[in-house]
Amino acid sequence: MTEFTHSRRRFMVLSSATLAAAPWLASCASAEGSAAIPAKAIGMPWPNWGELPDTPPSAPNAGSVGFAVMGLGGYGIGKVLPALANGERCHVAAVVSGNPEKAKTVAAAYGLPEDAIYSYEDFDRIADDDRVDAVYNVLPTGLHLQWTEKSFAAGKHVLCEKPMALSAAECEQMIAASEASGKKLMIAYRCHFEPFNLRAMELMREGAVGKIKTIETAQTYRMGPTSVAENWRVVRALAGGGPLEDYGIYGLQSALYLSGEMPVSVKAVTEQPANDPRFAEIFSTVTTEMRFPSGAVANMVTSYDTTPGRNLARVEGEGGVLIMEPATGYGGHKMSLVRDGVREDLVPGDPDVQFARMCDHMADAIREDAAILTPGEMGLRDMALIEAIYRSAAEGREITL
Ligand SMILES: NC(=O)c1ccc[n+]([C@@H]2O[C@H](COP(=O)([O-])OP(=O)(O)OC[C@H]3O[C@@H](n4cnc5c(N)ncnc54)[C@H](OP(=O)(O)O)[C@@H]3O)[C@@H](O)[C@H]2O)c1
Repeated sequence: MTEFTHSRRRFMVLSSATLAAAPWLASCASAEGSAAIPAKAIGMPWPNWGELPDTPPSAPNAGSVGFAVMGLGGYGIGKVLPALANGERCHVAAVVSGNPEKAKTVAAAYGLPEDAIYSYEDFDRIADDDRVDAVYNVLPTGLHLQWTEKSFAAGKHVLCEKPMALSAAECEQMIAASEASGKKLMIAYRCHFEPFNLRAMELMREGAVGKIKTIETAQTYRMGPTSVAENWRVVRALAGGGPLEDYGIYGLQSALYLSGEMPVSVKAVTEQPANDPRFAEIFSTVTTEMRFPSGAVANMVTSYDTTPGRNLARVEGEGGVLIMEPATGYGGHKMSLVRDGVREDLVPGDPDVQFARMCDHMADAIREDAAILTPGEMGLRDMALIEAIYRSAAEGREITL
């Protein structure tokens, strides 16, 4: 992902000597340094972005839901932990990590006792930890199924990062595990809690651009030099096909929630440049055309290989156009509605609320047994569409859904 303002404050970057001395990293690279990162839960060095709080968060409100954050990577430290700490009805109750030193530092920053630190090896003892109601799974995608199942087996609810898993079959297994355990499963589709996207959904429902004709989405950036030994996002067993699951899923979601429809067909093309270590296992670019029952057509592009990057959602109708750019990032959203040649810039709220609101929503679902806005079934729906997109590209034909 790209759309981030990174901060290195308070983060150390491990030197190669430190890495060599870190046994939890030993399985990461072969002697030649070229083996892919394994598709199993292992500790990783400090991410290159994110901040820890200067002082631990204040005590949680009464009835607050305790979350264990699983996977202390960029998003886990940079967004998930602060979101839980900022929530009104949720808090950080534990961390799960394969890097003990990092876990200790993060736990201390969030005021957690040492017995609230779990490794992947001793995770199962979390079943006896009443401080933890739910697990927030922030692991690489290829580990979502296994560790969501383990969390349900431990009697915890699960908030799982997007994309839900690597296939529709995996998503079905996760939903089945949720049902068998009687615990909730939510997918962390944060745009459903973000004021610009919420207002855009509302405008489209109100018919603000008239009958929708076309939707255009673009989620692209250029990934720096990397390889399967260095970055799970280019390892097929951890990331699937690559940019579509990671970033293009925002465009796919936008097309669905802005049109308010499910497509009847998809037609797609994938690119995988030869001799580029970034794309040894994944696609660089996926372009897709989706047709909707109303006659509307969505064109979506996602790429790890274009510069400058884009983050666009644009809806053209018979009576106007809605332009969101940037559309789905962490912040900096811009949205305009153009009708009769008049452009209206809309600022419906602060995008930063999306993270904590999403966590509070999960907390409400748990405490009040309320319906989840972004349940496992939505993750399954999206993964089934992604599979159809890849099938269309592989078979070189339009797929009717
Ligand atoms: N919603 C959003 O906007 C958004 C944005 C970014 C990412 N995400 C999602 O969040 C998840 C994590 O992404 P991220 O950017 O945080 O990744 P990341 O920075 O690479 O961190 C992943 C963390 O997972 C743990 N891990 C366990 N086994 C691993 C393995 N085999 N390879 C790599 N890491 C492993 C490590 O934590 P420990 O060292 O603590 O064990 C690692 O630091 C993904 O599902 C991604 O799609 C969502």
